[in-house]
Amino acid sequence: MTKSLMVFNCNQERARFVAGAAADALRSHGLRVAVFVPVSQCQEGICAASLSEDEALALASEGKYAQLVSAIVDRHDALLKEADVVVTTCVSFDNRVVTFAERLSIDLAHDLDSCVLSAICPEEQTEATLVAQSLLSVKLFAQEGLDVLGIVSMFEPPAVKTLQDHGIRALDIWAMNLHPEVIRTSSRRMTPAKFLRILCARARDNKRTIVLPEGDLDRILLAAAELRVHDLVNLVLLGREDDVRAKASALGVSLDAGVRIVDPSQDANFETYVTTLYDIRKSKGLTLEAARQLMQERTYFGTMMVHQGHADGMVSGATTTTAETIRPALQFIKTKPGIKTVSGVFLMCLSDRVYIYGDCAVIPNPTTEQLCDVAVASASTARAFGIEPRVAMLSYSTGASGTGPDVEAVKAATDRVREQAPDLLVEGPIQYDAAVDAGVAATKLPGSPVAGKATVFVFPTLNAGNIGYKAVQRSSNAIAIGPVLQGLNKPVNDLSRGATVTDIVNTVVVTALQAQHDG
Ligand code: ACO
Repeated sequence: MTKSLMVFNCNQERARFVAGAAADALRSHGLRVAVFVPVSQCQEGICAASLSEDEALALASEGKYAQLVSAIVDRHDALLKEADVVVTTCVSFDNRVVTFAERLSIDLAHDLDSCVLSAICPEEQTEATLVAQSLLSVKLFAQEGLDVLGIVSMFEPPAVKTLQDHGIRALDIWAMNLHPEVIRTSSRRMTPAKFLRILCARARDNKRTIVLPEGDLDRILLAAAELRVHDLVNLVLLGREDDVRAKASALGVSLDAGVRIVDPSQDANFETYVTTLYDIRKSKGLTLEAARQLMQERTYFGTMMVHQGHADGMVSGATTTTAETIRPALQFIKTKPGIKTVSGVFLMCLSDRVYIYGDCAVIPNPTTEQLCDVAVASASTARAFGIEPRVAMLSYSTGASGTGPDVEAVKAATDRVREQAPDLLVEGPIQYDAAVDAGVAATKLPGSPVAGKATVFVFPTLNAGNIGYKAVQRSSNAIAIGPVLQGLNKPVNDLSRGATVTDIVNTVVVTALQAQHDG
């Protein structure tokens, strides 16, 4: 059951009326139900949680559409803290900017993962127009990727019967028999906001502790505040306590009890961490003094906290290179049993779906064995984030269309994946268009279970992967979350030095989910 039900009718009063009836019907099954009007000029009664029309239109006219949607989603989710279901009316601006209100309502239905009810009012309508209007409504929602739960007829029961006789799922407002079990999501699109909302809910349900070594950096402190306001993770910030608190207060950020500040040089575990590092690396020529020196570097200290189980994961790299950030993890967190290779994927959140691209971060020129490891690990990462893996081993050739050593290398890696993970759906070598486009797939690789519907894309080299993810990110406004490192025994993730506060928040949430997945 989804926790969101959304009622559409272009007339706000009627939408509220149906929302009230639906709420009563759900309450009669013992559910706690809140009614939410996303935007309203009045701020009282059921509109107490609404965004004002002025605020909404100002955000929209300033081009801040994403902030507008997220402000509404936040208000909706605040109501969910006290309710099992929130029944939401579509957005209406008092018969102004109707097209914009419709667009916003549909986007909200996806982002809130709503079950959609379409309310129609067959006032002075013939039976034929009632049926035609209802069929059109179902069709228009379907074109927007929404399967409506049903048409709600606001007038006499005979109208419901008429609709049902024409095969239209119709509900009677007067005897709204709305059972909680039928409240399923109508949304067939995985929008970036919906995906992130699902990840955040999972992080919140089973909170993990993530260490952020760059604890006195402005962006890290702002991200820490946001993560704590939404209660997504507990945090350890590394740094001198006075410095961290002074910076936080200068930024107007409050650090609650879910944030612990640890100064590595003063920490009671420091010497244990030094000897642990020495014991692990002495065979590589590391001296005790060199281990003590390294442990003063916050990335080593944070990684050691994860290694010792004093934190569940680490996110760093806002000021350090990828190599500096992940080298400690490669040296002593090491790989999971059975996996030899660490690689990095991006969760590519497109407008209606999420793809996995790898390796985009670690291995410049993978061997056959490494490319196979990247494919198997990327499929596992896909599963951890709720994506069914269908793996495309990318090349400039599809099947036997092209030849050469690079194609042979991808073919050899694909064969190895098939041997190692016989149940995994994998295709290769395959070109990107054949991997994503059903039409091209039907011509180039008919019958393939992956071609045309791939979800995991394995690039043949780091050059291809890194260029590929940035090209898609910058040309399509996709949100790229990552690199998410995979294959490590415990989660450690690297930030780009240009990471924004939102990027940092997303990476911390992803790290917490990897920690959950690892148990
Ligand atoms: N998987 C598992 N272990 C590894 C891997 C790997 N992919 N790479 C290195 N290791 C291990 C080695 O076996 C070695 O272990 P040992 O010391 O116990 O024997 C240890 O890590 C160090 O190995 P080095 O060969 O010394 O590796 P180095 O630390 O120099 O470099 C690194 C590793 C940082 C991953 C390097 O391959 C690299 O720089 N890759 C490219 C990173 C990059 O620039 N990415 C693009 C930017 S990221 C972005 O745009 C999002």
